[in-house]
Amino acid sequence: MKICTVIGARPQFIKAASVSRALSAVPDIRELLIHTGQHYDSNMSDVFFSELGIPAPSHNLGIGSGNHGAQTGRMLEALEQVMLKEKPDWVLVYGDTNSTLAGALAAVKLHIPVAHVEAGLRSFNKCMPEEINRILTDHAADLLFTPTTTATRHLEREGISPALIDQTGDVMYDAALYFGDLALRKSGILHTQRLNPGQYILSTVHRAENTDNPDRLAAILEGLSTISAEIPVILPMHPRTRATLERAGRQSLLRGITLIDPVGYIDMIMLERNAALIATDSGGVQKEAYFFQRPCVTLRNETEWVELVEMGWNTLCPPESGQAVASSILRQIGTAGQTGTPYGEGDSADRIVRRLAS
Ligand code: UD1
Ligand code: UDP
Repeated sequence: MKICTVIGARPQFIKAASVSRALSAVPDIRELLIHTGQHYDSNMSDVFFSELGIPAPSHNLGIGSGNHGAQTGRMLEALEQVMLKEKPDWVLVYGDTNSTLAGALAAVKLHIPVAHVEAGLRSFNKCMPEEINRILTDHAADLLFTPTTTATRHLEREGISPALIDQTGDVMYDAALYFGDLALRKSGILHTQRLNPGQYILSTVHRAENTDNPDRLAAILEGLSTISAEIPVILPMHPRTRATLERAGRQSLLRGITLIDPVGYIDMIMLERNAALIATDSGGVQKEAYFFQRPCVTLRNETEWVELVEMGWNTLCPPESGQAVASSILRQIGTAGQTGTPYGEGDSADRIVRRLAS
């Protein structure tokens, strides 16, 4: 069986790392990776291939950045050509980026079955580009691998046949378990950044609803800047956020915050597992906070990962003012939630591969 996996953005490299490793252990399956080129800086792409042992993509489409329509359209056209040539038995897509949607759409139009990893997530906010990408991908897919019970219920409510849904757990949990110890041995980031375990805040900000709204972005950075007077704040900055701040000439909002370039996954999970608290608008980082039992403040109005809010590990903080952000973070430091296994047992990739193989 030949599987073409379509990836393109940072979190997809991390998700694919677990599944590609499991696929490579099955003699009858051959996986070809197609990189759309949505993310292309070496610290947003190459670093993950070298660090996580992901096989080199057999095709890199080099699509790069652009408006949603242009970017997705260029991907669709290029992916169709590759799929016509490669004639895969399945196309595998991850998450909810424009690369996910383009991969699913290119495949279904060619009548190639699509498997969607991380299916069923919903924010119920259609202003998010990711929400549109998820809904369309789920409804195009022939096999839907869900990370949580909530995700499974969303799909069932939308009329997707239970026979197509497989609740495997979250492949990001597999990755955190597999690479977590390696980070302890290999990462020197605490030393390089002069950080003491448990005595700093880690933050990431990249979501369009925050970066494209000057008031929300200012509220987040003012909040982080305020608390930096009490506890160090480190922020590996996504290129989207950096570009927005540079365009608007608002770098002064970063006063007091330790700004660094995006880091590789090994350094990132080292920063996560030792943080006093994580403040983020990232989907993946919210879950990693829980995997490493750190409290998290989510800088959004809603989250797809509702179980973490219910369990008490995650607090939603709509970034309406610097004061709101600062007080929410300071209140949550030192808190912990309930225990549980909402994301499975860390064997999601094996379960996905068993289902594909059968
Ligand atoms: C994308 C996904 C988002 C995901 C995120 C993960 C969509 C619609 N969004 O958002 O769901 O959470 O990836 O990080 O697919 N840029 C660079 N270098 C790069 C990549 C991006 O400079 O290697 C800059 C460019 O200015 C670009 C901007 O970041 O215009 C946005 O990149 P894009 O891939 O369109 O969206 P993300 O915000 O990264
Ligand atoms: N990540 C990373 N380096 C960074 C920031 C994030 O390796 O500087 C990892 C993080 O650990 C997680 C994934 O990237 O596994 C999350 O990706 P991102 O926040 O870009 O996207 P989202 O999950 O919100 O779609």
